[in-house]
Amino acid sequence: MAVTVPAATEQIDYADLYARWERGNWSAMDLDFTQDRIDWHEHFTDEQRRGALWLYTLFFHGEDSVAANLSPYIDAAALEEQKYFLATQQVDEARHAVFFHRFMHEVVGVGDGSLGGGLRATRAELTWGHRKLFGRLDRMAHQLRSDRSPLMLAKAVTLYHVVVEGTLAQPGQHLIETSLERMDLMPGFREGMRNVALDEQRHIAFGVKLLADLYRENPQETQDAIVDLIREVLQYTLSVPIPPGWDRSYTESLGYTMEDLYEEGARANEARLRAIGLPLDEIAHFPFPMDITPRERGKQALALLRAGLLGAGDGGPVGRDPQTVQIFFDLLARNVRGEEIPHGTTIQWDFADHEPWYLLIEGRRKQAIQGRVARPTVRLKLRWDDFGELVSERAQPYHLMMRGRMRPWGDPRVLLKLQRLFH
Ligand SMILES: [Fe+2]
Ligand SMILES: [Fe+2]
Repeated sequence: MAVTVPAATEQIDYADLYARWERGNWSAMDLDFTQDRIDWHEHFTDEQRRGALWLYTLFFHGEDSVAANLSPYIDAAALEEQKYFLATQQVDEARHAVFFHRFMHEVVGVGDGSLGGGLRATRAELTWGHRKLFGRLDRMAHQLRSDRSPLMLAKAVTLYHVVVEGTLAQPGQHLIETSLERMDLMPGFREGMRNVALDEQRHIAFGVKLLADLYRENPQETQDAIVDLIREVLQYTLSVPIPPGWDRSYTESLGYTMEDLYEEGARANEARLRAIGLPLDEIAHFPFPMDITPRERGKQALALLRAGLLGAGDGGPVGRDPQTVQIFFDLLARNVRGEEIPHGTTIQWDFADHEPWYLLIEGRRKQAIQGRVARPTVRLKLRWDDFGELVSERAQPYHLMMRGRMRPWGDPRVLLKLQRLFH
């Protein structure tokens, strides 16, 4: 497997990242929040305060989690230069958490002044996606403590530096900064965010460089580790910034839409993975379509989440809008591990209350087709809502089968593999 790491990534140097850290040092304690207090209480509307408190809480808890979970990465890194940089990063993350904590306490007025108190006082704002994703980061730190292998480190850095920092945090920070600049409010918080964003740039550059190094040493297995991790946490990642009740005023009151946020995330995610050198257009079961714009990718993700075909759902019926259904089956087709089943396999879904769909799988060529195939390799009979519960992992296949709500039929070799094929 030929590996081409972009020149810009090759030029990143661990020792230079450390030097940049020394030069970029700043103080979270020295930020002056006097004007911020006035702006927050007198110039923000109720809606803006609600939206900002929600979004900043996601960051506050995120920073606390990454500060606490970085130490096994220091142990698992191979080079001293990597270890030293990661040690500086851990200091940064603690400083970021202190920054958000100070803001929450001194400006918003929540908590008892202790870090733990601030976290407890804001915990109710966290989203389902946030709890799931950072729960996974906790478990990842645990795994890395007992397995310091390069492949485990690749997974861990993908989750931490590419997904959490590179896909979620940095695009979010960017939108927060520009919206506050436009409103010309909260100068102290803005200055802090600018510093946080500069730190994140170094962290992400480090993660990309480390992954590129691991990828060059062991291309196929490292690529699989990265892509598998992205697939594993996909639903969680996409669900982190969904506001309560899908209420768009949470972001729009601050001057940007959910589409803007998802577009930035999609663009950033692609840029980081390409910077590692991964041939995204050629990877067999890469979850995202790379032949459409980041904005389109973001919109597709939002449609699937809204329909309850990905993520936590909202307890209501699963969406059936034909365009969204098409997007979903295309996603299934792209995701299925076609190389692991016989050429020409067909998977048929027969819905009691929705039109049928099937996948035609010819190795790496995979197609989602609306309708029925004459002799499918396997067939699954179920209701559309149960299908939504199943594919978003809100329901387990054996539970549905035990309750007679899903009836599988066909080639047992493919049936037994079915779950693995889509994971
Ligand atoms: Fe941070
Ligand atoms: Fe960071």
